Amino acid sequence: MVVAATEADWQEYRDVRLRALAESPAAFGSTLQRERAFDDAVWRERAGSGRTLLARLRGAPVGLVTTIEEEGRPDERQIVSMWVDPAVRRSGVGRALVLAALRAVRAQGVRRATLFVADGNEAAARFYERLGFTSTGERQPLPSDPGRGEERYAIDV
Ligand SMILES: CC(C)(COP(=O)(O)OP(=O)(O)OC[C@H]1O[C@@H](n2cnc3c(N)ncnc32)[C@H](O)[C@@H]1OP(=O)(O)O)[C@@H](O)C(=O)NCCC(=O)NCCS
Repeated sequence: MVVAATEADWQEYRDVRLRALAESPAAFGSTLQRERAFDDAVWRERAGSGRTLLARLRGAPVGLVTTIEEEGRPDERQIVSMWVDPAVRRSGVGRALVLAALRAVRAQGVRRATLFVADGNEAAARFYERLGFTSTGERQPLPSDPGRGEERYAIDV
């Protein structure tokens, strides 16, 4: 089940986000060290922003995704923080999260979604391609490890 996180979910959201950063450090632009230091107020604000979706199986959190508006790109949304618990991968949870995120993007009146895939994250590249995203060819250094690169993918929604 995919649900929109509310401020009341802030501890669940914090815990699943920190699990994601600990489990897949190479996949994300942020780091566990950086986010572990966040105050409770930051987690409350993030959870209550209406931008994060949580996946739950039998009530237990197993994944998340967030959509953000990138500075200077008001006509699209960026998908970030996408993560599924390794115990339940390849069972459609990721697909359900992305489809729900794309519906949320459309509901905001925006018709394009993008995201960055870190070099070497072939599972994510295959996953997004399977869902219809294509590479734009745009590349930039990975913020958490600027020696590595990441590539922007996009889809019209
Ligand atoms: C990428 C990720 C979110 C996929 O989540 P998931 O729940 O396993 O994905 P789904 O089960 O919905 O997969 C949907 C389809 O994507 C493709 N896919 C997913 N994982 C794949 C993999 N490891 N290799 C190849 N194709 C893959 C398959 O076509 C799959 O359909 P199938 O299982 O019927 O063949 C998950 O592997 C993950 O959390 N990875 C670590 C964090 C990460 O890399 N996040 C993305 C940052 S850009």
